[in-house]
Amino acid sequence: MTENSSSKINETVSWVGRWTFVLAAAGSAVGLGNIWGFPYKAGTEGGGAFVLIYLLCILAVGLPIMMAEIMIGRRARKSPVNAMKIAAIDSGQSGKWQAVGWGGLISGILILSFYSVIAGICLNYIFISAFPNPEISSLTQFNEVTSSPLKLMFWHSIFIFLNILIISAGVISGIERMVRLLMPMLFILMMVMVINAMINGDFAKGLNFLFAPDFSQVDATTFLRAMGQAFFSLSLGMGSIMCYGAYMPQEENIFKTSLTVAGLDTVIAILAGLAIFPIIFAYGLEPGEGPGLVFISLLSVFVDMPLGNILGPAFFALLSIAALSSAISLLEPSVAYFEEEKIASRFSSALILGLSAWFIGIGSVLSFNDWSELEFIGGLNFLDSIDYLANQFLMPIGGMMVAIFAGWFFKPDLALEEFSGIQFYIFQVWRFFIKFVSPLLVATVFIYQLAS
Ligand code: PHE
Repeated sequence: MTENSSSKINETVSWVGRWTFVLAAAGSAVGLGNIWGFPYKAGTEGGGAFVLIYLLCILAVGLPIMMAEIMIGRRARKSPVNAMKIAAIDSGQSGKWQAVGWGGLISGILILSFYSVIAGICLNYIFISAFPNPEISSLTQFNEVTSSPLKLMFWHSIFIFLNILIISAGVISGIERMVRLLMPMLFILMMVMVINAMINGDFAKGLNFLFAPDFSQVDATTFLRAMGQAFFSLSLGMGSIMCYGAYMPQEENIFKTSLTVAGLDTVIAILAGLAIFPIIFAYGLEPGEGPGLVFISLLSVFVDMPLGNILGPAFFALLSIAALSSAISLLEPSVAYFEEEKIASRFSSALILGLSAWFIGIGSVLSFNDWSELEFIGGLNFLDSIDYLANQFLMPIGGMMVAIFAGWFFKPDLALEEFSGIQFYIFQVWRFFIKFVSPLLVATVFIYQLAS
């Protein structure tokens, strides 16, 4: 069936542990998007109704595209640029489909550039929450951190450095080792935070806020936000999952692993909501605070709470760990490409690409202070412009192109090969979604976005 199976390079690295793909992909998926982004968006978009729409997006768009990305990556066992190219050529299509991979590499570096600045603030907050200054409010504290380019640069640099270190150690000794250590830690810390919310928070009110849908606040933008959040949170449309899929052993079941990864990602986002909102309500704060929710609202709570100077650092460590395991997956696709094309060694590639993200990140550092008045795309500051470009533009287009390619251009018998061991009706349902439902939904949201 595979007339071109010679293109399948078997010497490519493969995850060693049976659960590593799931851990690595969940490590990529679970990040600032879940613990920082999801709660504040649920908070501003009306709670339960947003959660419901978000779940729909995960199932109808996220899951099918995740399966498609893994399928393409694993078939070619190459970085996203070459994976798209090989998958296209093997299906008798133009090698120009590699443009989708290129878009992914660029988005990865762009996202890493601002992701690292926010993750740097999380690192800084481990210390701030351990030794809070009782003289100043948490808002003043946040402004103090963000008004100093030097402070932000310092933590941004540390975070990028950690990324370079892990990535240059390689797929097995760097990424695999780190996710096996970080992910269980993340789970334990998350459970501690939820138990804390049960003890110290208004848990019933938190549950009600997250699960009782109030559709009065739902409008077109709720759908846009939920879809964007689903892409970002599952790390789709930019090659991270495709790249990790390239290291997935052949015998693993794409459907089961995708379901597990999407499930874990969703559970962690909801647990993050359950860790945060009961506390917010118990202390009489507003859930719709926005991006400052964890840095401003939660910090003020940790200052007053019993054992706050232990729970606070634990929470921000959790956030930093989640951010780190995501950030490495932003850098890996381009490093894998450089290494594969013999442009540079793994170490030099990690250094060059990591430093590029670091350099672009300076703009995001400055957008909190010296450049806060400067407008780039559509009146947004530098950080928000890059965020907008990647999240609302590059990732959805990338995801839609993957769906169109997988549904319409990738040979079904090649797809079936990758789906071996999966019931045929699941394959057919997937085909239907990837051909029609997912691309149409993304296109609708996308057109709305441009029109609004
Ligand atoms: N999914 C990550 C998060 O939720 C962010 C991310 C996006 C990571 C894209 C890799 C690729 O924070």
